[in-house]
Amino acid sequence: MSTLLSCHRRRAAWLVAAAAAVFCVAAPVHAQGQPIKVGLMLPYTGTFAALGDMIEKGFRLYVDEQGGKLAGRELQFVKVDDESDPAKATDNVNKLIRRDNVDVIVGTVHSGVALAMARAAKESGTLMIVPNAGADAITGAQCAPNIFRTSFSNWQPGYSTGVVAAQKGYKRAMTITWNYAAGNETVKGFTEAFEKGGGKVIKELTLPFPNVEFQALLTEIAAQKPDVVFAFFAGGGAVKFVKDYDAAGLKKTIPLLGSGFLTDGTLQAQGESAQGLITTLHYGDNIDTPRNNAFRNKFAVTYKLNPDVYAMQGYDAAQLLAVGLNAVKGDVTKKDAMIAAMKKAKIDSPRGTFTMSPQHNPTQDFYIREVRGNYNVVTGVAVKALADPGRGCRM
Ligand code: PHB
Repeated sequence: MSTLLSCHRRRAAWLVAAAAAVFCVAAPVHAQGQPIKVGLMLPYTGTFAALGDMIEKGFRLYVDEQGGKLAGRELQFVKVDDESDPAKATDNVNKLIRRDNVDVIVGTVHSGVALAMARAAKESGTLMIVPNAGADAITGAQCAPNIFRTSFSNWQPGYSTGVVAAQKGYKRAMTITWNYAAGNETVKGFTEAFEKGGGKVIKELTLPFPNVEFQALLTEIAAQKPDVVFAFFAGGGAVKFVKDYDAAGLKKTIPLLGSGFLTDGTLQAQGESAQGLITTLHYGDNIDTPRNNAFRNKFAVTYKLNPDVYAMQGYDAAQLLAVGLNAVKGDVTKKDAMIAAMKKAKIDSPRGTFTMSPQHNPTQDFYIREVRGNYNVVTGVAVKALADPGRGCRM
């Protein structure tokens, strides 16, 4: 009897232990079996629609290259069209954070929208990776441990173009852009480097985002006759600006420089008007490395399209997420360990290897590019390993 009892007891204890073992093993397996939820908040309509599409294509390409999983986990995408509208940004991002309970937010293109997203990400602690928007504050005054960027700060391409303009010996510059964070901060970066190099910005012209009625401003440029014009426009607005600058006869008389967004992803639509334009950016079409060639070939085969800077930034957003996930074997609940790995990441990017600044912005080379045919051809390096100053960041 006692043997039987003890046997029963032992059996019961074993069952409990086995059940516990099953439970202990099963709980994480269950969590790990769920897909990781990625909130893609990007513009799918409006002047930046093509940019959002390229970012998503780039992101998905990297995931596909890993067999459709990161760190052994499937991804589930939840998509929101942010329309590049800052007024809708807080509601849109909160849908992803509160309603959909995403593990990571990836977005966006427009600086004003991204600033609202970063505020919500900081408040909620949700991991956020910015695959384009350059708003300086995201890795400056509004920086946070859980917010990373795989693109650039607005200051960076502005500053590197200012270096080039001063080196070319121009003395009097005019600037033209949309009046919002990206335009104003890019111009500020340009002015900082250009004036340090001995130039002077004589006039800053702006129009509201996303307007494209450039005529009055082009007339003013013609009247002032500066040595050079610096422009920040992107997407559909960049196409129209470059064509209008040419049609106004200015391309022949006043050199036009820009941050590379002026001619990236836009060349087919800009045609002859873009030929010969010089810009600076952290990417160029002809970077002749095995990494970039493999990326471009894979992208072209997959989508029947050439990639651009936006596709590359989206691809690298997925790479950075993979670094974090690999460090925790796919367990997204270990956020601190993910962040620690992402901070130290050395991303093997098609642009060239880059690292993260202490404020989580890429420290990277800025290339000089010239438009030849349908390509932004790298002709030199404007600034090597340019790090954003990260002004105002306390982490
Ligand atoms: C931005 O709003 O930060 C922005 C948008 C488009 C670009 C670059 C920056 O190409």
